[in-house]
Amino acid sequence: MHEKLHKLLIRRAMIIPTSEIYNPVAGFYDYGPIAVNIKRKVVDLWRQIFIEKDGFLEIDGATVLQEIALKASGHVDNFNDPMTECQKCHKRFRVDHLVEDALGIDASHMSISELGKVIAEKNVICPSCGAKLGQVKPFNLMFETQIGPVDGITAYLRPETAQNIFMNFNKIFNAFGAKLPMGIGQVGRAYRNEISPRQSLIRVREFHQMELEYFFDPEEDDSIMLEKAKNVQVPMQTRQMQREGKSFALVTLGDAYKEGYIPAKTMAYFMAKERELLNALGIRDFRIRHLMEDETPHYSGGNFDVEIATKFGWVEVMSLAYRTNYDLVRHSKFSGKNLQVTVNDKKVMPHVIEPSIGLGRLLWCVLEHAYVEDKERGWDWLNLPPKIAPYDICVLPLMKNSDLVRKAKEICDNLKPLLDVSYEQSGSIGKRYAKADEIGVPYCATVDYQTLEDNTVTIRFRNDGKQIRIPIGNLAENIRRWKLNGIVEASKSGYELLH
Ligand code: GLY
Repeated sequence: MHEKLHKLLIRRAMIIPTSEIYNPVAGFYDYGPIAVNIKRKVVDLWRQIFIEKDGFLEIDGATVLQEIALKASGHVDNFNDPMTECQKCHKRFRVDHLVEDALGIDASHMSISELGKVIAEKNVICPSCGAKLGQVKPFNLMFETQIGPVDGITAYLRPETAQNIFMNFNKIFNAFGAKLPMGIGQVGRAYRNEISPRQSLIRVREFHQMELEYFFDPEEDDSIMLEKAKNVQVPMQTRQMQREGKSFALVTLGDAYKEGYIPAKTMAYFMAKERELLNALGIRDFRIRHLMEDETPHYSGGNFDVEIATKFGWVEVMSLAYRTNYDLVRHSKFSGKNLQVTVNDKKVMPHVIEPSIGLGRLLWCVLEHAYVEDKERGWDWLNLPPKIAPYDICVLPLMKNSDLVRKAKEICDNLKPLLDVSYEQSGSIGKRYAKADEIGVPYCATVDYQTLEDNTVTIRFRNDGKQIRIPIGNLAENIRRWKLNGIVEASKSGYELLH
């Protein structure tokens, strides 16, 4: 765990355990104002890269789904984690995690019976009271509820956003041009009743997903998709490499497809998109792992996880799944409505490729990768790309003098329609720079006595801590230019440095 980051998030109220004043229940966090801004900008970047660039569509579905929909998807019967209960203190544990913690082995691929055997043979006991553990059983991860007052309809909080898209596909297809391929995305909440939530934002019970379902005719040539991505390099861990205990190797997506690691050309295209998003977010330390045979659902044409290096180890943050036509076939069967579409007089049950992202996990990784421990400066700070910084600029009056405060507030008001602006007037100027740095604000504008005379301000850049002086009238335009080009050092600003 990156303790310093977690403490920063709590101290600046970026995340707050939900209903904290009542002794909170694990696995739920509220996002505070600073984190809301960062989250919104990460979503905007995802939307630009995964939706807008390709002219795809977006929906916003309800989060309570009736039972039959999730019977069709397979979640009611199969969406389980292995659980055991202590026979004395009755605490419940997720067994693969328990075995991993107790024995230091990878238990993530073990079946229920294998886990039961390991517990018995290696005498794994309750980590809380030391007593014997009960039988290992599957535990369904969905939150169940009833719709309506009495004898309601059984329903569940959706465990993934994807199902709304499958159920709506036919309607949207016909309303939006009836052409394949068609991409439909969604950003929204999903819920999983984790047995043991842990690791800050990584394993929680309520979270946001950013998912895209790309519907296509598998009989149509998709070479163009590979063509666009073939020269992009990604760190990949193939099944063979995992069997041999090798970490990953850099490959071009063209070669990876030729070697047979990637089962569909379009998957290469979305791998390139996943890389594009990670790079835009400042994350370079990631790998694309081909899931092993026993981790891959039976209907899948191939699944990959995008894992990011963190202090928790490699964390699965994105996935890329070839869901074939499984979901549409199942919803056709359970609803009695044929969800095939007609394209150029041909009946097609489209196949689906799904890039899916856990937003909270991604946010944690972005913050961890941006975290700079800086003894020389005297405080730690976040090296966030300016596009996702919570504020574009922090405006500060040099002192609490009423003329300076009035001028600083006037500057803020003028900038607000154009930029995300914060304002700080308490504490020494050094402390205020530190406060802005530690949440990743890239630029600080200080209003001093010279400002009152000539309408210029000093701009301090986060990364080199150096300053320039510019006219107020040029502020918004310059900040937009620096932000767009990722300029976070005064020495690269195009202006003369002060001092
Ligand atoms: N839709 C994929 C997932 O929720 O993991």
